Amino acid sequence: MIIKSIRQLKKITGKKVFLRADFNVPLKDGKIKDDYKIVASLPTIRYLLRYKCKIIIATHLGRPFQDKKFPPKADQPRAENIKNKKYYSTKPIALRLSQLLDKKVRFVEDCVGLKVGTEIGEMERGDILLLENLRFHKEELKNNKKFARELVYSADIYINDAFGVSHRKQASVCAVKKFKPSFAGLLLEKEILNLNKIVRPKKPLTVIMGGVKIETKLPLLKKFRGKANKILVGGALANNFLSALKYEIGKSLADKKSIKLAKKIYSEYGIIGKRKFVLPIDVVVNSKKNGLGDPKVKDISQVNKNDIILDIGPRTIRLFSKYIKEAKTIVWNGPMGKFESENFRYGTLSVARVVASRSTGIAFGVVGGGETIEALKKTKMLDYVDWISTGGGAMLTYLGGGNMPGLKGIIK
Ligand code: 3PG
Repeated sequence: MIIKSIRQLKKITGKKVFLRADFNVPLKDGKIKDDYKIVASLPTIRYLLRYKCKIIIATHLGRPFQDKKFPPKADQPRAENIKNKKYYSTKPIALRLSQLLDKKVRFVEDCVGLKVGTEIGEMERGDILLLENLRFHKEELKNNKKFARELVYSADIYINDAFGVSHRKQASVCAVKKFKPSFAGLLLEKEILNLNKIVRPKKPLTVIMGGVKIETKLPLLKKFRGKANKILVGGALANNFLSALKYEIGKSLADKKSIKLAKKIYSEYGIIGKRKFVLPIDVVVNSKKNGLGDPKVKDISQVNKNDIILDIGPRTIRLFSKYIKEAKTIVWNGPMGKFESENFRYGTLSVARVVASRSTGIAFGVVGGGETIEALKKTKMLDYVDWISTGGGAMLTYLGGGNMPGLKGIIK
């Protein structure tokens, strides 16, 4: 595999670069709750600063067009007409970036147009300009060529450092590459090099899957059927499999379509595959969805119609730990339960601790996905894991061998 990295660029000094970052960070009341994605891109930005580049940074933030509370007017898709603009503005990111770099970061209230052109025209060597949310323009989501050309019009080169969104066929990661010489940023390069160690793993390989959406995990579950030695399934994801196997799951999170999918995957696994597949043997249940009721540990066969499964139980934790400890390669995506609630976080935190304690030494450990990283952070053991991927869906797609339009032409 060849990665067209910015490190190979000889004549980069003073160049005007368009850097596509993934600064899709959680925000509350205009404040950044977690800046790990911004921090992860700092090496690329510092590298470009060392070469006195003029750095134009673009990112998406959330999904404003899918926000039902503040719908934009369908016939006026331009930025200035979007009612929910302030909720999805990248302006707070400019401030955080400026604090992290201890350097002024300018901000412009759009990502294309006259104002942006003027701001770029005024840039000096070593200046940084952050553009407004790319997803304020529907053209971004539609991979529109005209929009893509406008985005990078004044830049000399295009850099993709946004691994987390490289599975999307969107203008700023896909169409844009037609118009400028394109390269991988340092973060994107590291993501690929580390995730490739999972693609060709040292055995035994243990895969831990949790969370909710089965469709996003499907490619990985299929791809690793032959490769993984154990696939540990927890979280709401496991409910679908348990239900498919005729266990009572009460009022737990699951839906007909996902149960059908789970049934299909399970039947495709075959006898050897089924032995690899490890489901919870006990769970922590509650009768209230909000997790405020009394938590009860139950064997999986004792779950009744009124129960809601909100975590894996102690025997499952022991079983999962055993398989994690046997592994030379570990990959984890998705929490084991409703870890936001005090009573139902022990399964997720226990898995996090075991993964962290085996990584950086005994096994090669990779963790990805916003919630999984949030859980790992709670254990204060983030630094003990070999690679924290900035991509949730992107990591699953890449490892599952799916289409990555953002990497086309950059990685060969
Ligand atoms: C992520 O947070 O996983 C990436 O930034 C991609 O965001 P998206 O799922 O809204 O495309």
